[in-house]
Amino acid sequence: MFPTGRRDGRVSIANEALFNLPPPFANITVLKQQFAGVGLSVKDLAVLSGGHTIGIGHCTTISDRLYNFTGKGDTDPAMDPRYAAQLKKKCKPGNSKTVVAMDPGSFKSFDEDYYTVVAKRRGLFQSDAALLDDAETRDYVTTQSRTHGLTFALDFAESMVKLGNIGVLTGEQGEIRKRCAFVN
Ligand code: HEM
Repeated sequence: MFPTGRRDGRVSIANEALFNLPPPFANITVLKQQFAGVGLSVKDLAVLSGGHTIGIGHCTTISDRLYNFTGKGDTDPAMDPRYAAQLKKKCKPGNSKTVVAMDPGSFKSFDEDYYTVVAKRRGLFQSDAALLDDAETRDYVTTQSRTHGLTFALDFAESMVKLGNIGVLTGEQGEIRKRCAFVN
C-alpha cells in the first residue's frame, strides 16, 4: 500500500527544491552522490530515473548535448547519432519553446520503454545516458529492457516510498496538506 498524508512544511521555497535536484547534465558520479546524500541507493537511482517514462523536456535542456557538448560545436558522442539528428530537426539552436518526449511513442503512459530507450543510447538527458556508465545501473537498464520491465512497477513503488520519506516531518511539526500544492 502506498502511504498517504505526508507531513510537510508550511512554507515552500522554490530555490530550496532546485538546490536539491540533480541537474540534467549530471554524470553518474554526481547522481550517485546526490542520491546517497538523501539515503537513496544506486538501485533507487536506476529505478526512479524510470519516472522519465512520462513527460517532456525543453529543447534548451538538451541544446548543449546537441550543439555544444565540449564548447566546440560538437554533439554528445554518448547519444545515438541518428537520434541526435532527429532531435536537431525539432530543436534548432536557441529554440526555447519546443518540447520533446523523454520516452517517444509512449510519453503519456507509465511503462518500461524508458529502459529500452536508454539502452539504445537514446536517453534524452545526460543523466539518463549516464545510467550506462555504472555496472549496477547499466545492468538494471538492460535487464528491464530485455524482460519488458519484469520488476519495474514493483521496484518503482518501493523506491517512491523511500523518496517520499526523505526529510518527512513528524509530531507537531508542519502539516499534512489537504491539497498538495498549497499550504492549508
Ligand atoms: C535522476 C535525476 C533526475 C534528473 C537529472 C532529472 C531531470 C529532469 C529534467 C531536466 C526534466 C525536464 C525539464 C524540462 O526541460 O522541462 C525532467 C522532467 C521530468 N522528470 Fe526528471 N529528473 C530526475 C529524476 C526524476 C525522478 C526521480 C522522477 C520521478 C520519479 C522524475 C520525473 C520527471 C517527470 C515526470 C518529468 C516530466 C515533467 C513534464 O512533463 O512536464 N525525474 N527531469
